Amino acid sequence: INKIGILTSGGDSPGMNAAIRAVVRTALYYDLDVIGIRRGYEGAINGEFIEMDRKSVANIIQRGGTILKTARSQAFQTPEGRKKAYDQIKAQGIDALVVVGGDGTFTGAKVFGEEFDIPIIGLPGTIDNDLYGTDFTIGYDTAINTAVDAVDKIRDTAESHDRVFIIEVMGRDCGLIALRSGIGVGAEAILIPETKTDVPHLLHRMEVGRKDKSSKIIMVAEGGEGAFKLGEIIKERFPHYDTRVSVLGHIQRGGKPTCMDRVLASRLGVAAVEGLLEGRRDVMAGLIHGKVEFTPLDHAIKHNKEVNESLLKIVEILSL
Ligand code: F6P
Repeated sequence: INKIGILTSGGDSPGMNAAIRAVVRTALYYDLDVIGIRRGYEGAINGEFIEMDRKSVANIIQRGGTILKTARSQAFQTPEGRKKAYDQIKAQGIDALVVVGGDGTFTGAKVFGEEFDIPIIGLPGTIDNDLYGTDFTIGYDTAINTAVDAVDKIRDTAESHDRVFIIEVMGRDCGLIALRSGIGVGAEAILIPETKTDVPHLLHRMEVGRKDKSSKIIMVAEGGEGAFKLGEIIKERFPHYDTRVSVLGHIQRGGKPTCMDRVLASRLGVAAVEGLLEGRRDVMAGLIHGKVEFTPLDHAIKHNKEVNESLLKIVEILSL
């Protein structure tokens, strides 16, 4: 391998810049050239390449977003689009790829790696933490801290007004942002798609639960019932509560990465380049029990991550 291409794709996540920096600097350390591909697979198709050197990644470890920009490419889902991307990449002399992203990014990488002879290593860059083969994805820690910070603020006003707040957080089909940030804010209930913490159960617990608490925070993962629908149900069942709904939205995707995310991105960025040099391909670099491990891309995307039972028990004991 002489020249590595790096891209970020799909929804951005805090720490992607730290990952780009780590990949570029590790490649240079091993005397490899690095090309940045802008706007993910879309940029590969359209020939958006830039040479990367030590300086091009200076002062980015602390920045949210991605300096390479990102996109969700429709064209890359077609064989013609992928062929175009391959031709462009080959014309640049790129002979290996590091792709930073989530589910969609790895799905694309897997097909691309099967169709063309190019080694690819994925780095888990998504706030959702929904990839198998890594305890945490790059951006998750920042996102849950952002959510905790926002909900702490909501708690102040909820408490002042004796209100019930239903707060929706991101995560696509995965409830892990809701679960951890919900525990972190002392939520009275947490609804996630992975468990049977369903609406009747919640209503029952509200019915029999403490009446003396002035505010209630109900954390809801976006992949479930939907915060507004739940708000209507609660308003109807408990008309004496003053109920409000708040959707945190894209605030969870931005901001300075936490130290945890910067270190994770740095470790995995180094591992990706070293993995390519060791001959690995079509795998994702992740961290399992504190150790770097490589997982085939199709395992990373196909297996549902298990929800930690002990966290669910904690919710049951400490909420309502
Ligand atoms: O995958 C990251 C994520 O933020 C999900 O949590 C969310 O469902 C989705 O992306 C939102 O995507 P978009 O920014 O395209 O609306």
